[in-house]
Amino acid sequence: MTRTALVTGGTRGIGAAIATMLKANGYKVAANYAGNDNAAKAFTDETGIPTYKWSVADYDGCVEGIAKVESDLGPIEVLVNNAGITRDAMFHKMTRENWKDVMSTNLDGLFNMTHPIWTGMRERKFGRVINISSINGQKGQMGQANYSAAKAGDIGFTKSLAQEGARAGITVNAICPGYIATEMVMAVPEKVRDSIIAGIPVGRLGEPEEIARTVLFLAADDASFINGATMTVNGGQYIT
Ligand code: CAA
Repeated sequence: MTRTALVTGGTRGIGAAIATMLKANGYKVAANYAGNDNAAKAFTDETGIPTYKWSVADYDGCVEGIAKVESDLGPIEVLVNNAGITRDAMFHKMTRENWKDVMSTNLDGLFNMTHPIWTGMRERKFGRVINISSINGQKGQMGQANYSAAKAGDIGFTKSLAQEGARAGITVNAICPGYIATEMVMAVPEKVRDSIIAGIPVGRLGEPEEIARTVLFLAADDASFINGATMTVNGGQYIT
């Protein structure tokens, strides 16, 4: 059976690796993105995966975008809430806008994307919701009071929804990536990044594909007993 998957923030970084790996494993895949048209076009040219533009921070945009994806590819059975942004600043320098932007995308985005898809999953008695949280939602991170709060919220959302969906054949799980070699991590000042890498027992950043394979594992039909889990994939940097 060919299942349909939607990956938010799916044209770059970890999301692109997830979308590509799902497609390589037989899923029909749609990749959502919010802003970078050039990256989206390059991604479709390279992978053949269609892209759809809307912001996960905008509920009405999500409803409209999801309807378009479903009319093109069929009902969404696997939702990967991956889209996320950083607005890092020490708290004494953090603006209300830094806080709100991160909350809107990284936390509200999970409500906005999952809510319109949830009823269909319940009716069809199957669903996989996979939320990409972060190591920093588990342990906190200086310079990321906003991001860590949102990502910790993603874990609470996951645990609650996992209990609601279970009887309808829906699993909801979170993955907490550690520091992965993407543009987001490369934007961290080099000195700070080096000190972070020094604290990773495997001695390196993770690869986006290492998160993608965790998504693939959780998305499978026979992963139905894994529900409400928080999977850490961080090279041993923080062991829960
Ligand atoms: N670990 C150790 N020390 C840190 C640190 C960290 N993560 N972050 C900041 N510091 C230290 C700096 O080295 C500096 O120390 P000194 O004064 O001794 O030089 C001090 O704190 C102040 O830092 P800055 O000089 O960099 O202050 P700033 O105001 O210019 O910038 C900042 C602050 C924007 C938070 C910047 O330090 C930064 O970007 N830090 C990294 C934050 C981070 O880890 N973000 C993760 C992004 S990747 C991601 O989010 C994906 C994911 O899920 C893991």
